[in-house]
Amino acid sequence: MPQIDAIIAQMTLQEKAALCTGATAWTTTPIERLDVPELFVADGPHGVRRVPDAASMAIGALPATCFPTAAATACSWNRSLLSRMGQALAAEAIALGVDVLLGPGINMKRLPTCGRNFEYFSEDPYLAGELAISLIDGIQSRGVGTSLKHFAVNNQEEQRMTIDAQVDERTLREIYLSAFEAAVTKAQPWTVMCSYNRVNGVYASEHRRLLTEILKEEWRFEGLVVSDWTAVHDRVAALRAGLDLEMPGPRPRRVQAVVEAVQQGELAEAALDEAVRRILRIVFQAAETPKGAPFDAAAHHALARQIAAESMVLLKNDGILPLAGAARIAVIGRAAREAHFQGGGSSHINPTQVDAPIEELRKLAGGAEISYCEGYPADDSSQPDLIAEAVAAAEAAEVALLFIALPTFKESEGYDRSDLDLTSHQIALIRAVAAAQPRNVVILNNGSALAMGDWIDGAAAVLEGWMMGQAGGGAIADLLVGAVNPSGKLAETFPLRLADTPAYLNYPGEAGQVRYGEGIFIGYRYYDARQQPVLFPFGHGLSYTTFAYSAPRVSKQTFRDAEGILVEVDVTNTGDVAGQEVVQVYVHDCAASVLRPPKELKGFAKVDLQPTETKTVAIPLDFRAFAFFHPDHGRWVAETGDFDILVGASSADIRGSVRVSYQSTAVLPSLLDRMSTLRQWLDDPRGQAAIGPLYAQFQTALQTVFGGDGEGAGPDIMHFVLDMPLPDLLEFQGDALPVAPATIIDGLLQQVRG
Ligand code: GLC
Repeated sequence: MPQIDAIIAQMTLQEKAALCTGATAWTTTPIERLDVPELFVADGPHGVRRVPDAASMAIGALPATCFPTAAATACSWNRSLLSRMGQALAAEAIALGVDVLLGPGINMKRLPTCGRNFEYFSEDPYLAGELAISLIDGIQSRGVGTSLKHFAVNNQEEQRMTIDAQVDERTLREIYLSAFEAAVTKAQPWTVMCSYNRVNGVYASEHRRLLTEILKEEWRFEGLVVSDWTAVHDRVAALRAGLDLEMPGPRPRRVQAVVEAVQQGELAEAALDEAVRRILRIVFQAAETPKGAPFDAAAHHALARQIAAESMVLLKNDGILPLAGAARIAVIGRAAREAHFQGGGSSHINPTQVDAPIEELRKLAGGAEISYCEGYPADDSSQPDLIAEAVAAAEAAEVALLFIALPTFKESEGYDRSDLDLTSHQIALIRAVAAAQPRNVVILNNGSALAMGDWIDGAAAVLEGWMMGQAGGGAIADLLVGAVNPSGKLAETFPLRLADTPAYLNYPGEAGQVRYGEGIFIGYRYYDARQQPVLFPFGHGLSYTTFAYSAPRVSKQTFRDAEGILVEVDVTNTGDVAGQEVVQVYVHDCAASVLRPPKELKGFAKVDLQPTETKTVAIPLDFRAFAFFHPDHGRWVAETGDFDILVGASSADIRGSVRVSYQSTAVLPSLLDRMSTLRQWLDDPRGQAAIGPLYAQFQTALQTVFGGDGEGAGPDIMHFVLDMPLPDLLEFQGDALPVAPATIIDGLLQQVRG
């Protein structure tokens, strides 16, 4: 790594400003004079979209492996598999001359209709953070960079370039930043990409608190902050905020504006130097990785198939799966021939090959006779003849397999879905086929949760295939015939109706603002708190075998924050086929000073088990597993008290729990102030000690003023009084007080703050 500060010292102001803006759509500005090479970046996140011409913003790209998208891989709950996917992505980036891969995307799934949800992991920040760490580690372990995106609070496509996300501090920290915090602090992505939108009134590209105070100072991010493409509006303001690299380029007027701002003293050259320093660090880090070695496309295709099979979720199965011995199978749906394996927009990959589900099924279904019919049109029209043809095929077969893909005109980057439904023709098709052939299986390809109330009762089984990547057709065949046992678990809730969802009344926003009124209650946090029934809960997924859990054990019944605890559970495969189980650990705060979700995911592990095999799964819980972000203290706080550790096979299938007693060692400053109420003084142990002697006087004074029942103020009066600010209460004693109430209060405050 060359001496960066020495290079900066030799750079002209013009060269510094030029380095902070792209030279082309996908490259940074080289400085030949100083041997500074260009950096080549490319989308991501589930494949390398290397455009042939760096100046081109077109979607077309060189061939690369299209892996399953994040919505799918999140359902694998398999950290090591994500790491292996990352290593393969890096090998392809190296082959294609790419230094930084623009992913992973880890925005929270605030609403199931976000058109870009297929590119994001989960509604749960812990799961998203853990999987992002694995993917980043995998990619960067091979000397290729990543770009953690989109920072931050980018949770809808509707007006994505201008919308102002209004979110309170606690929700921001606990839900919308914590996956980024985990990934930055534990995996140090080479770059972080700022989002288009505004956060509490300020564009993310100009948000100093996000980009510098939180990301760079609090989380100690060492890499560079890159804009989303065209997300910069004021280059000088963005540099001041900590936005190091504007993309795409070229933007000569922007470069000139930076030069003039420094010359006129509007921008400190030191701020520009800091951006230059961060960019040079990544440029030279990337240059240490030789590019051009070819990648093994066949091996990556096989890996993509394995990942897809582990990511698909068996949502419903009355026993029809795995298919056994069916002699005549009706395959219905265009997605059986034209695999629906990725989404629209910037993540669109040019695959090295694509497996058609029906062809892969033919290879595995023994001598079964397999018929095909289109089932539904490519557009949103209704074509009854297609349904009639499908019904006839289903009646003539022993099993009907419906391959249903949610069309791109319903979901993509750039727009949100208007509902949770399949097309009306697809719904009619499924209902008609199910009526004719009860032995039917619905195989779905979609990027996010679907409502199924119109048709699911008639389906014998439902397999969620997601946007499964180029090898997904083979994965579906593996799962249908039982060559692979399903192990996927939902990383997002499937609600019954759109109107049941947390953000329903706060989407898409109005007058350019969207209020995150549901606060921390997104996904299962909301449905649990509201006791709202759902179609399929977070963490749900069936297997061809069954698993038994022992009672959970903890390393300590009582522990202090610095110690953490280890949760252990013995899991047994009680069926007759090998399988994988995802053990999920949720934490419930039995008594918090703030409203908290009934449970939150804080640990998980995936375990392979042969029939009758038992393994002990051990999952550590640290301080943050018990903490919430206290908006008044401005920090993470875990309060002394009891917590329940819930161990389950899904958020709704808790197999055992154990109560532990947590001792906080934190000494938090008192929050009491001159207008704190009597109740607040009594709730703070230091406050209670301070006003103890006064309290008896209150009782007397209250009796005098309110004439209670002779036994001091009655409960109704006390409720009224407890919520009075202490100075107002003291005023009731008027002249009886030796000094003014404010003086007494100041004395008390000094005492508790001492
Ligand atoms: C797009 C996306 C971002 C992508 C970038 C480059 O608008 O929001 O995820 O990496 O532009 O294509």
